[in-house]
Amino acid sequence: MVNTGSLLTALSALGFVLASKGQSDPCAKVGGQKWVKPADLRACFKSVPVDPVIKENILEVINKTLAFHTSVNYQISAPEPFTAAVHENLLKDLARISAQSYDSEYDLHIDISRIVALFLNFLPIPLVLLSTPSGTQTVSIAPEAFNVSSAEFPDEIDVWQSALPDGIALESLSGATVLSINGANPNVAIDANALITGSFEGLGTRQNAFFSSYQRSTTTWNYIMGNFAQQSLPLSDSVTLKVQRVGQYSTDTITLPYRARIGTTTVNFTDTASWRSGNCLVDESDFKKQDDPSSTTKAVAVKFMQQPPQPASRSKQLVNVMLDSTPLTDVVLPPELTPPDQSLNGSFLAGEFFMLDDGKTGVLALGSFSGDDFDTMESGLLKGLLGLKSLGATQLIVDVSNNGGGFICIAHFLHRILVGPKASTVPQAGLDTKARAGPLAKLIVKQIIDNNTDPNDQSLYNPLAWTNASNVPFPANFDWLDPSVDLVINGVHDSFSQRLGQECVPSGFTTTPPDQALFDGSKVVIVSNGRCASSCSLFSITMSKEEGSKTVVLGGRKGVEQEYCGTVGGQSTDFSTIAGELQAAGLQDNPLAPPNLLVKGTQGITWRLAFGVNDPTQPEEWQDHPATLNLPLTAELVNNPLAIWKEVAKRLF
Ligand SMILES: *[C@@H]1O[C@H](CO)[C@@H](O)[C@H](O)[C@H]1NC(C)=O
Ligand SMILES: *[C@@H]1O[C@H](CO)[C@@H](O)[C@H](O)[C@H]1NC(C)=O
Ligand SMILES: *[C@@H]1O[C@H](CO)[C@@H](O)[C@H](O)[C@H]1NC(C)=O
Ligand SMILES: *[C@@H]1O[C@H](CO)[C@@H](O)[C@H](O)[C@H]1NC(C)=O
Ligand SMILES: *[C@@H]1O[C@H](CO)[C@@H](O)[C@H](O)[C@H]1NC(C)=O
Ligand SMILES: *[C@@H]1O[C@H](CO)[C@@H](O)[C@H](O)[C@H]1NC(C)=O
Repeated sequence: MVNTGSLLTALSALGFVLASKGQSDPCAKVGGQKWVKPADLRACFKSVPVDPVIKENILEVINKTLAFHTSVNYQISAPEPFTAAVHENLLKDLARISAQSYDSEYDLHIDISRIVALFLNFLPIPLVLLSTPSGTQTVSIAPEAFNVSSAEFPDEIDVWQSALPDGIALESLSGATVLSINGANPNVAIDANALITGSFEGLGTRQNAFFSSYQRSTTTWNYIMGNFAQQSLPLSDSVTLKVQRVGQYSTDTITLPYRARIGTTTVNFTDTASWRSGNCLVDESDFKKQDDPSSTTKAVAVKFMQQPPQPASRSKQLVNVMLDSTPLTDVVLPPELTPPDQSLNGSFLAGEFFMLDDGKTGVLALGSFSGDDFDTMESGLLKGLLGLKSLGATQLIVDVSNNGGGFICIAHFLHRILVGPKASTVPQAGLDTKARAGPLAKLIVKQIIDNNTDPNDQSLYNPLAWTNASNVPFPANFDWLDPSVDLVINGVHDSFSQRLGQECVPSGFTTTPPDQALFDGSKVVIVSNGRCASSCSLFSITMSKEEGSKTVVLGGRKGVEQEYCGTVGGQSTDFSTIAGELQAAGLQDNPLAPPNLLVKGTQGITWRLAFGVNDPTQPEEWQDHPATLNLPLTAELVNNPLAIWKEVAKRLF
């Protein structure tokens, strides 16, 4: 099962249209509807058998694209403390899937990827994990549950209300203690979800994915429902809870149905044929995009990466983002929980500045490292932090809850301006990296050097893109993948590039960083729910390990180590970019090259892998990142960013 944090595929659907043979079409029942029963949606999905041609095509694309993914052999068995959570032999799994037969395309789909964006399956009662002052933990329905769902699902609230026993208002469930889920201790459901939720590596973080959380989004504060109240597949039809409502001595047992709502990007359909043609199959123009290396819309995928259109300079294009298993939705944090807008200087999409009323704590809420235009972000970060200082801030909280990464050089820039020029920030505040040197990757570099296949210097494989470990740029004709660095990882022979140095200076810093530090590194606290990945990990790790910044994880089960960030990576890319590279190098017909993908989907890969801080010879990915403080969430704090920041300031400064 591809489920242990190895970002892999997000296939929006798999097979071909198989003409419905005159029988009633199960997809006609859900077509044209906004809200449907999960069972009806499943019946539609399960009515499509696996097409062997498509199945083979998908597996071949994944298999051949993995040759460019740096982590394949490391993931076979990650070192402690990640061994239990990350032991994924991708190639073996592909072989298993290849040999296995599936009742329907839906069943195959579940085995490859749990992401289908067609409909999302909701409950109106997101859960939270609360702690009492004495340290007891209880699973509760979020105090704000009704506020969130009545605002987001006004057209469906009645359906849920009418499923409840007489005398129990949906609203009265907010804040209730959950004593059991489907007859078992709530921890059973939390741990079962942790096994199948992907993307973020640590066990604590995957447990926490069950619960609701918040994110500073591009225009507002988003409310993330959590895996209990929002599923990407129609997995569950209903849930039965034993609850004790606020102010009640007795308990109630209630059953609520899940309801599936059509996705915001789903192309409307009326039956199987229009579902498949609109949402699954790739058409001719998509192929052209896949094949055209100059196209900026190569990805034909439904993907949930926080990645804006790519600007011209290469350093500005380099991204490290999560392929999240949870599509972003437009659910918003209720106004009562939203930090009042202070309209401070410098705020930009996904980034907002605040000053706490202690007069000395500034806050940067940063929901993404690529939520806005690159230059706007750099100038906004500097302007905003200078503004906080002019208001008297001597200490800073950076809240990166649910920040899945983005531009690598924005992460470097933020670190550099916070702590000023010093050995850990000049020339780069980031980590050295390496790329994988498989046979086809090596051929791309040789083609660029020998046959000038990248005259406009666009390719990721162009030697001009990189520097060596002393940060000296490679000459144009330097074959940086040959000789490769050959290693044996988890018993498998593998090859990588030499160690690569900084990639952001000069063209990735479009705003000139000041000569002075803005804050003392030890006066910076990075707060998140552990769901901070890719460029967010690069920023948090280097600030914590090199500058002594403190880290806070919100909530989490007692006794389980809370990691302040998840997937680290180094630089991410995807199948369509690799396909474009091969096309540009004239290698698309090489037997090792992946074919065109016949369905809409994407495969994210870690193209460069970052080296560690404490052990610089090994990837940072599997080095430990324990939080300084695991902040217990009370009913007053949970999902209330301002209250959380005040509590953090009180405890850590
Ligand atoms: C993946 O590719 C390797 C060769 O690179 C091959 O041996 C293996 O059978 C392939 N696996 C699948 C499932 O296609
Ligand atoms: C929910 O909404 C009510 C009514 O607007 C408000 O009084 C209450 O503070 C809100 N609660 C939360 C947790 O947002
Ligand atoms: C689908 O249909 C609904 C209602 O007919 C409409 O509001 C919506 O914009 C349509 N969506 C798309 C993607 O066409
Ligand atoms: C905000 O920017 C304006 C214009 O640049 C400046 O006059 C003002 O002092 C700034 N405010 C703060 C608090 O930095
Ligand atoms: C460069 O092109 C020539 C002529 O097409 C070809 O023979 C040679 O193999 C190419 N070089 C590489 C490294 O592929
Ligand atoms: C980087 O390149 C420079 C110039 O060729 C060389 O002097 C230096 O030793 C190289 N550094 C490493 C780590 O290879």
